[in-house]
Amino acid sequence: MIPVFRKKEEWSSYRDGLPDAKTLGFVPTMGGLHEGHCSLIRRSLAENDFTVVSIFLNRTQFNNVADFESYPANFEQDVALLQDLGIGAVFAPDYDSMYPDNYAYVVSEALDSKPMEGAERPGHFDGVLTVVLKLLNIVSPDRAYFGEKDYQQLQLVKGMVQAFFLPVEIVACETVRAEDGLALSSRNHRLSREARALSAMFPRILNTSEDSKEAECELKKAGFDVEYVEDKDGRRYGAVRLEGVRLIDNFALRTISQKIERSRR
Ligand code: PAF
Repeated sequence: MIPVFRKKEEWSSYRDGLPDAKTLGFVPTMGGLHEGHCSLIRRSLAENDFTVVSIFLNRTQFNNVADFESYPANFEQDVALLQDLGIGAVFAPDYDSMYPDNYAYVVSEALDSKPMEGAERPGHFDGVLTVVLKLLNIVSPDRAYFGEKDYQQLQLVKGMVQAFFLPVEIVACETVRAEDGLALSSRNHRLSREARALSAMFPRILNTSEDSKEAECELKKAGFDVEYVEDKDGRRYGAVRLEGVRLIDNFALRTISQKIERSRR
């Protein structure tokens, strides 16, 4: 059985016992594990001697109570999956051990956290950055793995690591997609069969439209509630709702224009 640590002190004394030469890879999660998480974990396993995965449903990053309450949590199933993958340890603290200050101390980013996800989900990135800083301090990994699906989050975590001189390498991992192109997410299973079929249009439209206006228009026509489509710093970002379920995605603008070029030939 893999060891599951509930308290940071227990984890810390276990970590102190790991031989110094070992590199430690870390994959932070909120549970509800799917193939997207597994690909981060496999990469960490391949690149490090020891991999630890955290499972902590961080309520400070949810601006919407219903979204927090409906987040799919199945701890036993997650741990069984992690066991099969062959990781070294699970860190699964409770709220009080992560927030002895009851969230009185908050990490805020003043610029890049404001548009897109930050505008649609006030306080979201404060919650993310605060918990990631705590987790990195507790786990003390050499490398930490984040998916590109949450690209804005990834950039902000990288920025925080630089700003606070944290001794960790942030490794960006490509988005894992279903066969029809939809980015894997713990929320996808909440879609009805019809909505799930339609949801594949989201990445397709985002990835093939000439510009953000056209993408927004096409998404609305297809039946999505569009929160935003933005072309920014060489990437196209989008967030939509379908049956109230929030989907986000992003693509490099370079690959979008290459695709459009090819389709014209
Ligand atoms: O991407 C996530 O699952 C979460 O935002 C993270 C990084 C685990 C922090 O709670």
